[in-house]
Amino acid sequence: MDTRELQRTIASAATSDGAGVKLRRSLGQSPHTRLDPFLMLDEFSSFDANDYIAGFPAHPHRGFETVTYLLDGHMLHEDHLGNRGDLKSGAVQWMSAGRGIIHSEMPQQERGRMRGFQLWINLPAREKMKPAGYRDIDPAEIPAVALHGGGRAKVIAGTLQVDGQSVAGPIQGLATEPLYLDVELPAGAAFTQPVARGHNAFIYVFEGSLTVGAAATGRALATHSAGVLGPGDLTEVVAGAEGARFLLLAGRPLGEPVVQHGPFVMNTREEIEQAIRDYNSGELTRTPG
Ligand code: FE2
Repeated sequence: MDTRELQRTIASAATSDGAGVKLRRSLGQSPHTRLDPFLMLDEFSSFDANDYIAGFPAHPHRGFETVTYLLDGHMLHEDHLGNRGDLKSGAVQWMSAGRGIIHSEMPQQERGRMRGFQLWINLPAREKMKPAGYRDIDPAEIPAVALHGGGRAKVIAGTLQVDGQSVAGPIQGLATEPLYLDVELPAGAAFTQPVARGHNAFIYVFEGSLTVGAAATGRALATHSAGVLGPGDLTEVVAGAEGARFLLLAGRPLGEPVVQHGPFVMNTREEIEQAIRDYNSGELTRTPG
């Protein structure tokens, strides 16, 4: 197998979104920091309610998927279709905005830690105008696999192949074939994972540090940084002196033009203008038929 080397590092930048939620953005800081099909990755983490309490009041999306993974805290999701999702620590919400959704994501706590991620994954052109839908994934539905070398891996999407076993996560069968793992390693532990050749892949370290790549050529990846992996079919990492916790994300690239305007991600300028018109007229969230 060919080990994927660390090709590029994207340090996260402090920013805020929603009504003033403080976060760290790695992918998606600019059009040049996307990694097809991934558009954006935000990490939020704070013990200070002032950093998160304002939440994300009602806002629209069209043309892609948002994946919220809550590590610590309690968040209520509501949308224009009347759906409600109560996200607790360890839960995932996988939302496909399709042709349109208006939703809010609001913290349900006034103290304690709020920590998690929001990932944006593009939809292929043929699926951008499908009806909106989403899935709330309970922590009990996410397999947590103990690793032989110590640590554990949680499988949110795709299939983990480790220590001679194959463990499927709850999200399967999407056009972009995403792999979404949350891996925790003790100091010095190694972890290897096949990643389909031709798929784009990156690692986001949110605790400790990693060496990424083959043993002789591996390069360091620091906390709160995304590391884009080069070509190959095997991911190899070793945790640093303080251990590491990281996301491993991979997906099939769409190879289609991306035109983004805030919460709308389409293929052409005309489709963006249509999305803005549809939002203003209420058509964005009208149920077809
Ligand atoms: Fe949103």
